[in-house]
Amino acid sequence: MGYKVVVAGATGNVGREMLSILAERQFPADEVVALASRRSLGTEVSFGDKTLKTKDIDGFDFTGYDMALFAIGSDATKKYAPIAASQGCVVIDNSSLYRYDPQIPLIVPEVNADAIEGYRNKMIIANPNCSTAQMVVALKPLHDRARIRRVVVSTYQSVSGAGKEGMDELWSQTKGMYVPGQEVEPKKFQRQIAFNVIPQIDVFMEDGQTKEEWKMVAETKKILDPSVKVTATCVRVPVFVGHSESINIEFEDFLDEDEARDILREAPGVLVIDKREPGGYVTPIESAGEDATYVSRIRQDQTVENGLNLWCVSDNLRKGAALNAVQIAELLGNRILKKA
Ligand SMILES: NC(=O)c1ccc[n+]([C@@H]2O[C@H](COP(=O)([O-])OP(=O)(O)OC[C@H]3O[C@@H](n4cnc5c(N)ncnc54)[C@H](OP(=O)(O)O)[C@@H]3O)[C@@H](O)[C@H]2O)c1
Repeated sequence: MGYKVVVAGATGNVGREMLSILAERQFPADEVVALASRRSLGTEVSFGDKTLKTKDIDGFDFTGYDMALFAIGSDATKKYAPIAASQGCVVIDNSSLYRYDPQIPLIVPEVNADAIEGYRNKMIIANPNCSTAQMVVALKPLHDRARIRRVVVSTYQSVSGAGKEGMDELWSQTKGMYVPGQEVEPKKFQRQIAFNVIPQIDVFMEDGQTKEEWKMVAETKKILDPSVKVTATCVRVPVFVGHSESINIEFEDFLDEDEARDILREAPGVLVIDKREPGGYVTPIESAGEDATYVSRIRQDQTVENGLNLWCVSDNLRKGAALNAVQIAELLGNRILKKA
């Protein structure tokens, strides 16, 4: 017997990707239901070679469903996740609503799979922010070997991280540059995104960090290790899919760049592409549609005692959201529910 699965937000960037990954990985599902808002009632979405008609989440009865993968934003999650959980359906949520609740596990399966047991507290499991997910996959094996003290990360985040409206805005602004009279007014983003970069993702906090930067700090501590210090600068760039990160790491013990490269080559979820020649690294375009967290440009930082620099790229809609959520669903199935 397989699982009965709900995908909420099935018409969105992450929801569509979750459906395609469930099909690709042949998730053992007897039934998959696609939900979104009333606006999308009847909209057809693909699930492998099948087509599903989207239902309205409002009033949906989750009873009898094993798990619900949510990608509907924090406001709608606040309303519907407790309903699903109270009806006995485990929620795997992509929004930031529950990530910092100590009662709710925040999981990247390659890093802290054992935390899954905590799902029992509230029947909810949180999926991390896209930029955190790929970073901790790359940091974990290095931390196990040489203990990370401090991380300085700068991100180059694609517009799909801001949902379908973000992708539409980059597309329409780019076209607008070539069509005289067409508007290039920012709507979703704070400034023009076409042919530009914007050093703000999410709102500003009192101390001058943005919320996205704060999330990378708080989530890395929760998933990897509370003792690791992180400081981040998060930047939106005119790329459709794929987040990139420049990561500087200080360790307690010395870690040679060749050993780091060997460790990362063996690490789950990581693919090292690191040739010291023109083009011998990964850019976001190559990461789109792929599952791996790519690591390139691994090199010693000579300015500190035990330092390394690296470049990390991943498809934000996959490892940064949908793939990680499906991996959590697989973990929940294999370790806990054990139906299929
Ligand atoms: N994109 C990423 O890289 C990424 C990474 C990590 C986490 N996330 C999180 O994943 C969630 C979805 O992001 P996205 O990029 O997929 O956004 P999106 O492309 O804008 O899609 C939003 C989805 O949510 C649904 N929705 C919105 N309001 C709703 C409501 N009141 N009731 C029911 N459904 C509602 C939409 O349905 P309609 O089509 O009917 O409006 C749509 O299916 C967000 O919480 C986001 O923070 C995104």
